[in-house]
Amino acid sequence: MFKRVSGTKDILPDNVKLWQKLEEISRSIFALYNFKEIRPPLIEEAALFNRSLGESTEIVQKQMFLINNKVETYALRPEGTASIVRAYIENNLDKTYGFAKFYYMGAMFRLERPQKGRLRQFHHIGAEAIGSTDAGLDIEIISLADNLLRNFLIEGYKIKINSLGCVNDKMKLVEILRKQLNTKLDKLCDDCKNRFENNPLRILDCKNDDCKEVVRGLDIRDEYLCLDCKAHFDKVKEGLSMLKIGYEVSSHLVRGLDYYTGTVFEITHQDLGAQDAIGAGGRYNNLIEELGGNKSGAIGFAFGVERLLLLTKLKIQDTDKNLVYIITLGDKARKTGLNLLENLRKNNICADADYEGKSIKGAMRKANDEGAHFVLIIGDDEIAKDVINLKDMVSGEQKEIKTSDIIKELKC
Ligand code: HAM
Repeated sequence: MFKRVSGTKDILPDNVKLWQKLEEISRSIFALYNFKEIRPPLIEEAALFNRSLGESTEIVQKQMFLINNKVETYALRPEGTASIVRAYIENNLDKTYGFAKFYYMGAMFRLERPQKGRLRQFHHIGAEAIGSTDAGLDIEIISLADNLLRNFLIEGYKIKINSLGCVNDKMKLVEILRKQLNTKLDKLCDDCKNRFENNPLRILDCKNDDCKEVVRGLDIRDEYLCLDCKAHFDKVKEGLSMLKIGYEVSSHLVRGLDYYTGTVFEITHQDLGAQDAIGAGGRYNNLIEELGGNKSGAIGFAFGVERLLLLTKLKIQDTDKNLVYIITLGDKARKTGLNLLENLRKNNICADADYEGKSIKGAMRKANDEGAHFVLIIGDDEIAKDVINLKDMVSGEQKEIKTSDIIKELKC
């Protein structure tokens, strides 16, 4: 028997309802903020991600699902930001929209070691606002993420923010880190020893206990920020405080993707355990130019839907779908039933029938399991009398209705 691929999940019909609820809430909140949906493809040229996320990042080094087709190498998208920036440039949206706000929902793929809350196919609900460096936009994006979480009925999360500054500031931060870590190299894991050479910022993210201990001992202040970047970050903090959005400044927050500059943030929840990030984001003011567009600021974030689902208190109430379930006995009745089923649906009445040849008792049980409001029973007697036997499963009442009156009866 075939099994699903490790790190993937079947989202079965009962669970789909909660997914749909989250998506429905997201759409309505995104609309409030005037974000528009965008749906880029699930595959892109692998080089797009190498270039955007950075050659030395964990995702590019170890986690991309690659498809080699002799001529080119494609990748299943590990995240949405790079694709959306590509789509923004390729479709000249900079010229048609200028400043534009997008949201997206869909599957992402990373070849990770699966564990609770960490999958190989997972889903993002995310937003990207492209074409502005205004600090007000940073505030809007973080407030949007906060508002979404409140509407998902998730409580007890922590918003951590930091600023990486512009490219020059990031280089200064790297130097500060190298200086402080230089004497502690022997305490770092092998991966971090390599990171020290290639990408020291990633050491701050390492989950290894020894590395975490070293990182705790680092003294990183915001002295690497230039005046403009410091002023920008101050405005962001002031705006969040004004809107009473709780946040914590974390000088160790750097994020694992190279495209970030300026404000970065991460939203965590302790109930998630080791993989405690519900969502994360930040500014990527150089990415548009790097991918061939005009220089323009941008910021976005993405939530991991599977992690949202572990935390949400939303409950699904089975909407009263007023299902009508048809049970027929004998060949003649089956033909009448087939016509009736078609007629009910044409009249916008939700209807289903027994296709398993069950006994009347079994079919009644199935109708009950399906949550049917009405059951229509048709046998030879009913056909002879030109009636249908209608049972109201809620009140228990049963009566015969003239066949030609049945739609009228069910519509009242
Ligand atoms: P990210 O932090 O890599 O950021 O992913 C965002 C969220 O996706 C994480 O906080 C987590 O909740 C979820 N996530 C990531 N990997 C997995 C996994 N293997 N299994 C389950 N959930 C996962 C980004 O992808 C950026 N593109 C976010 C962004 C948008 N930055 C700016 N714009």
